Amino acid sequence: MNEREKLNEIIRLSTELSTIKDIDILLERILFEARACVNADAGTIYSREGDLLHFSHAQNDTLQGKLPKGEKLIYKDFSIIIDKHSSVAGYVASTGEVLNIPDVYNLCSGCGYYFDVEFDKKSGYRTKSMLTVPLRYETDEVIGVIQVINAKDNDGNIIEFTEDDALFIKHFASTASIAMKNARMTRTLLLRMIHMAELRDPKETGAHVNRVAAYSVEIYERWANKRGLDRKEIDSNRDVLRMAAMLHDVGKVAISDTILKKPAKLTPEEYEVMKQHTTLGAELFTNTESRFDRIAAVIAVSHHENWDGTGYPKKPKGEDISIFGRIVAVADVYDALSCKRVYKEAWKEEDVIEEIKHLSGTKFDPEVVDAFFKSLTVIKAIAEKYPDKN
Ligand code: C2E
Ligand code: SIN
Ligand code: SIN
Ligand code: FE
Ligand code: FE
Repeated sequence: MNEREKLNEIIRLSTELSTIKDIDILLERILFEARACVNADAGTIYSREGDLLHFSHAQNDTLQGKLPKGEKLIYKDFSIIIDKHSSVAGYVASTGEVLNIPDVYNLCSGCGYYFDVEFDKKSGYRTKSMLTVPLRYETDEVIGVIQVINAKDNDGNIIEFTEDDALFIKHFASTASIAMKNARMTRTLLLRMIHMAELRDPKETGAHVNRVAAYSVEIYERWANKRGLDRKEIDSNRDVLRMAAMLHDVGKVAISDTILKKPAKLTPEEYEVMKQHTTLGAELFTNTESRFDRIAAVIAVSHHENWDGTGYPKKPKGEDISIFGRIVAVADVYDALSCKRVYKEAWKEEDVIEEIKHLSGTKFDPEVVDAFFKSLTVIKAIAEKYPDKN
């Protein structure tokens, strides 16, 4: 690419990134585009949380290529202390400098930062060239770090990142950080809204809604790929679904604490009241011009419908139930059974799995259950990422 083309590319990307509203979907995309621009085999993106840099997404074409089609790499979550005498990413977050390292196994002596070899040891990957750039909001505040790894030449040989690459990623990072700041704000606002609506209990967190939403996105992607849906459509639906699924139970705002928090089985009358959280939730999303509102409403109203037409509130059957509702239904029950609730203990994992299998074809869409089981490894990694506190 020449300078002009690169400039155009940055403009195109910044417009495109600003259409992504969900923070996880956005970070995944920022990393992907950053890697594509400089032909990097791998990369990691970190998000700042206070004094820590939290690992949020990683991509690795070489390791991915060794997996069967449709499988995903599972990364263990970790945090890095933001400090000059820390890992490369921690150093960059602390100083705001860009680091372009030709070979991480050959760091300058006395530079202060170090390279953590654990990942390479476990995966058998050889990290060599590494370009690490801070994501800054309005010149000062560091909100994250992008790290692209192993630049490739046209023959696939690992080479160093050039000064041009560094400049390009730096510019890209400044546009990306604006989208990132907005998406973070959206996530925070959604979580606050859910907290007010449904939890009303300081001990509880947004962990359940984050899990259900992230499971739903995984299941949807499997389902949609199998159906051969267009990539653009899949990506845009994943973005909306990640946020809308978090709001599936937001109608609980209208249910009294005596029912919502009852530490025992509901009476039939109480259960009838509880069922209204579906229609009441849907009524909150009234802007039919907005795709987000339409999908959030459809999920709220249909996540307790059953494939065989025995659910509530409207009792449609089969594919008359929105695919988003069919997916959130499985994700929600899987999470509800796996966890402790005020009214029940957590089930054993094998019992949860048995129950989901058992409900396939009656309560649940068998194709969705199939996508769920194919995603189970990723789903379990998501559960670890969002643990219940207390
Ligand atoms: P939730 O706790 O998020 O549960 C979502 C769904 O998971 C339930 O929808 C149900 O399909 C499934 N589920 C959860 N726990 C169990 C269980 O122990 N056994 C079985 N077979 N399925 C389970 P459902 O039943 O329509 O309930 C909707 C919401 O109503 C629940 O959301 C919860 O907030 C409330 N709820 C339901 N039953 C009770 C209860 O006995 N006591 C209290 N306090 N709340 C309840
Ligand atoms: C780092 O040293 O910044 C982390 C490198 C990695 O494990 O990918
Ligand atoms: C939409 O409102 O755009 C789609 C809803 C659905 O497919 O269920
Ligand atoms: Fe519900
Ligand atoms: Fe729920």
